[in-house]
Amino acid sequence: MTFRLEPLHPLFAAEAQGIDLSRPPDSGTVREIESAMDRYAVLVFRGQTLAEEEQIAFARAFGSLDIGLKKALKRANRLKYDESIDISNVDDRGGIASIGTKKMYSQLANQLWHSDSSFQDPPARYSMLYSITNPAKGGETEFADLRAAYDALPEDLKQKIADLRAQHYALYSRMNLGDNNWTEEQKNAIPPVEWPLVRIHPGSGRKVLFVGVHATHILAMHVGEGRLLLAELLEHATQREFVHRHSWRVGDLVMWDNRCVIHRGRRYDYTQRRELRRVSTEDAPLPSST
Ligand SMILES: [Fe+2]
Repeated sequence: MTFRLEPLHPLFAAEAQGIDLSRPPDSGTVREIESAMDRYAVLVFRGQTLAEEEQIAFARAFGSLDIGLKKALKRANRLKYDESIDISNVDDRGGIASIGTKKMYSQLANQLWHSDSSFQDPPARYSMLYSITNPAKGGETEFADLRAAYDALPEDLKQKIADLRAQHYALYSRMNLGDNNWTEEQKNAIPPVEWPLVRIHPGSGRKVLFVGVHATHILAMHVGEGRLLLAELLEHATQREFVHRHSWRVGDLVMWDNRCVIHRGRRYDYTQRRELRRVSTEDAPLPSST
C-alpha cells in the first residue's frame, strides 16, 4: 500500500496519508486509490501543493475529463485549462464577484445537494476539488452516502421507487435560484437525461438512491407528486447520520465518487475569497489499454 487510510466517518470517507499527488500515480497506485474509493467514496488528501497541470494530470490517470456546465455557459475562464473548473467567488479580473452574476449563481447552486454533471450522459465519475483560499468561517463541503441512504429506506419505499426514473436537467437548479437569463442556445446545449432512482454502484455492488437537485421530475408520474417524492427522498438521503462535513484547509484535495455520494458547499461570507479548483472525470468506460 502506498498510502495509509484513516476513516473519518462511521459509514464512509477516509483521509489518505503519505501520498504526494503532484507526481502522476503509477497504475498500481491508481488501482489502490480506486479500491479505496470503492469502499470510502470520499478521500481527503491533506497538505498537497498542486499546480493546475499537476491536478489535471492526476485526474487523467482515472479517465477522460468532464467539463460539465462549461458546455452551456461558455464564459471567460480565469484558469488556464478548460478542464479546470473554477469553484470560487472571484471574477475574471481577480476581484470578488457580485451577487447576481453568473459566477455567484454558480456559488449558490453549489450549495444545493447534487452529483456533479448528473444532468448529462456520461455524468461525472470522480471529482477532485483542491483548496486554494478559504473564508474565515463557513464554506465547508458536505457529502452524503447514497448507498447508506438506500439501505435505510423503508421496504415500501424501496418497492415504490424500484423502477422509477427521474429526468435531470443542467439549468434546473439555477432557474430555481432565479437565474433565468439564458439564451435558447444555452438552454439546449445540454439536453436533459434520465436516470433510474435506484442504481447499482459498480465499485461496491451496492444499491444507490440516486437523487439530487438536478432531478426535475419523475417520469410517468404526476409532476407535483414526483417532485414531492424527490424532495422526501433527498431529505432522507441527507440526514445527519449519512453526512460527512469537510472543513477546508489550504492544500486539501478531496476526491469523491459522484456515482454514490452527493455533496453541497456551505454558506460563507461572500465578501471573503473562497477559491477551489475542481477537475472531474467522465463516468465513461475506460479505454481497454488502461
Ligand atoms: Fe459539485
